[in-house]
Amino acid sequence: IVDIKGGPDEGLKRVGEQLLVRGWVRTCRLQKAFSFIEVNDGSTVSNLQAIATANIEGYEKIDLGLITTGSSVLLDGVLVESQGSKQKVELQVSKLTLVGESDATTFPVQKKKLSREYLRTIAHLRPRTNTFGAVARVRSALAFATHKFFQEMGFVWLASPIVTAADCEGAGEQFCVTTLIPNSHTNPNTPINKIPCTKDGLIDWSQDFFGRPAYLTVSGQLNAETYATALCDVYTFGPTFRAENSNTSRHLAEFWMIEPELAFADLKDDMACASAYLQYVVKYILDNCKEDMEFFSTWIEKDLTTRLTNVAEKEIIHVTYSDVIDILSKAKKKFEFPVKWGCDLQSEHERYIAEDAFEGSPVIVTDYPKDIKAFYMRENDDGKTVAAMDLLVPRVGELIGGSQREERLEKLEKRMDALGLNKDSYWWYLDLRRYGSVPHAGFGLGFERLVQFATGIENIRDAIPFPRTPGSADF
Ligand code: 4AD
Ligand code: MG
Repeated sequence: IVDIKGGPDEGLKRVGEQLLVRGWVRTCRLQKAFSFIEVNDGSTVSNLQAIATANIEGYEKIDLGLITTGSSVLLDGVLVESQGSKQKVELQVSKLTLVGESDATTFPVQKKKLSREYLRTIAHLRPRTNTFGAVARVRSALAFATHKFFQEMGFVWLASPIVTAADCEGAGEQFCVTTLIPNSHTNPNTPINKIPCTKDGLIDWSQDFFGRPAYLTVSGQLNAETYATALCDVYTFGPTFRAENSNTSRHLAEFWMIEPELAFADLKDDMACASAYLQYVVKYILDNCKEDMEFFSTWIEKDLTTRLTNVAEKEIIHVTYSDVIDILSKAKKKFEFPVKWGCDLQSEHERYIAEDAFEGSPVIVTDYPKDIKAFYMRENDDGKTVAAMDLLVPRVGELIGGSQREERLEKLEKRMDALGLNKDSYWWYLDLRRYGSVPHAGFGLGFERLVQFATGIENIRDAIPFPRTPGSADF
């Protein structure tokens, strides 16, 4: 069993080989004495053209009209050089086996351009398209490159919990977790909020993880800090959740995050790690996913490979938040949200900085006002800003958010008091500052935003197999 991965040159090397190809039919065109079958096995965007003459075993399936778009087949044959101009090699079929039929009148992924909006409604079949096949392969390569980068750098991968009582970002965007244990006699059709689970028939959603509050994690950072202050360099890579009711092209309710945490490190080390990581994974897919990247450059974003090559090779720019405010205030562009020192940067500001002010380069913005950032960030000597950094990229805006953490117990407690946080529930986090505290820093990278950035795909819902957004959790 083989695939046809590697493009035309790889195919030419294999001319003369006897192959067994398995895959799904993209099209089947009938001529008088033979038929062309285009087949794809998911290993690459390029389909393999197969030629079946009327005398081969299994040809009757074509005569019966059963080799349709979407059907699955096995093709035995020899790879030969193609006479046609569209492909370099083709398979001369000697035996055709139909594995699974596909009703042509109802199969929705026919060979015509389907809108991404429509494809989201058939998320179970969209991987059969070239675009979603390519996104899935590049996403997988990015995940592999992520582990490869951190493992080669000596980081330890940490499984951070999905269920937790801590609200790392303090933004109140957590989903509640509940122990809904219906009585055995409950009718399975009872609406979920009517299921009698507690004594008085009410569910106290805030106390319902076996009598304690629990939420889906918004970030594994606080857990990563505990392991970084023991193993030095660690990283998490797993799903995180945000109950933000936003309908944008860069927000999901469930997304994957990569969160490295470095001990004995400051903001400079953190930025160096983020830049090296980004450049490494971008280079990795340019080198290892050539066909898919060419496909994206042809169909999704014209200058994609040039843009990414620049990212991989050029040094990443650093500016301070105060400089950014200055740039935005002087910009000719009219922003929907007015800019002044102390304001949070909106998507339009972030995109202006990365797309216009710095002409398409990634930019790291540092030293944000402390009032717009989370409680754990280390206060700078000016007392007004924190050692924070966001990495902004064109089209996506914020790709990475990170900071040096406040390692000084007193300062951290003062900040938590000022924000009204309950120190008792963070006792374990404060312990890290009581016992062998060290300067440490880390960042979080939204994996789907990286996929968007690396493939040029416009909407984050198309960068994850099964997007979770308001109103969509069906598949
Ligand atoms: O900036 P955020 O909220 O930072 C943290 O969670 C820190 N605890 C990370 C750390 O220092 N360890 O989120 C980090 C990144 C963002 O830059 C963005 O790429 C992504 O996570 N992100 C989202 N991606 C998709 N959908 C959402 N709703 C996202 N919210 C954040
Ligand atoms: Mg952020």
